[in-house]
Amino acid sequence: MAGLAVNVDHIATLRQARGADYPDPVAAAVLAELGGADGIVVHLRGDRRHVQDRDLYLLKQTVLSKLILEMAATPETLQIAADVQPDLVTLVPERREEITTEGGLDAIALTDTVSNAIEALHGRDIPVSLFIDPDRRQIEKARELNADMIEIHTGRFCDVKKPNEKSAAFADIETAAKRAKALDLGVNAGHGICYNTIKSFHGLSEIDEYSIGHSIVARAALVGMEKAVREMRALIVGI
Ligand code: PXP
Repeated sequence: MAGLAVNVDHIATLRQARGADYPDPVAAAVLAELGGADGIVVHLRGDRRHVQDRDLYLLKQTVLSKLILEMAATPETLQIAADVQPDLVTLVPERREEITTEGGLDAIALTDTVSNAIEALHGRDIPVSLFIDPDRRQIEKARELNADMIEIHTGRFCDVKKPNEKSAAFADIETAAKRAKALDLGVNAGHGICYNTIKSFHGLSEIDEYSIGHSIVARAALVGMEKAVREMRALIVGI
């Protein structure tokens, strides 16, 4: 059965919007776990626009499931990851002007940076996932660079509206998931998945875990974190 990793970045976004001490992503993570989360995800961005170092260090002490750190492969974040020892690092691209992570990591163009980061993280016994587009060449590169897993960028599938574009985008995800599994890579998927789009994944058994943030936090604002996670978890059961 596929797992659900809950990204609590946007609880921190709400806090940072007012420069307040609340809501606390650490408290949100506890509630997400009570709702059935199989993991907690945070993205420590270079500009610290939402998650702060303090959040990451506290989550390391409080998360009972597993802690997944999303980060760009920079000397600063590699140092922090080595110090915090999350259960998984997902390497993502990062541009200051973007609203959220907009495209997958280009592991081909950034071979040296990605390869050095994987080596450094493996040296600290931290498994590494690469957040990449559903593209055969990127998947094969991930294998070649010794990544443990990939996270397939589902943003395009979730965003496009026209039915033919949607089915083509889903076919790309399906092909990518099967190719990655055939190469013995773990397969996560995430970005833009909501309570409707998750339903399309039924029958795609190659995906090990879904990484979902915005839609869950948005629903949590209305119904509460535990309930929002429980409802998403129920939609994933049986995929
Ligand atoms: N996976 C990765 C690599 C991401 O960068 C994000 C966004 O932070 C997510 C998953 C979650 O995306 P969303 O917030 O749209 O569910």
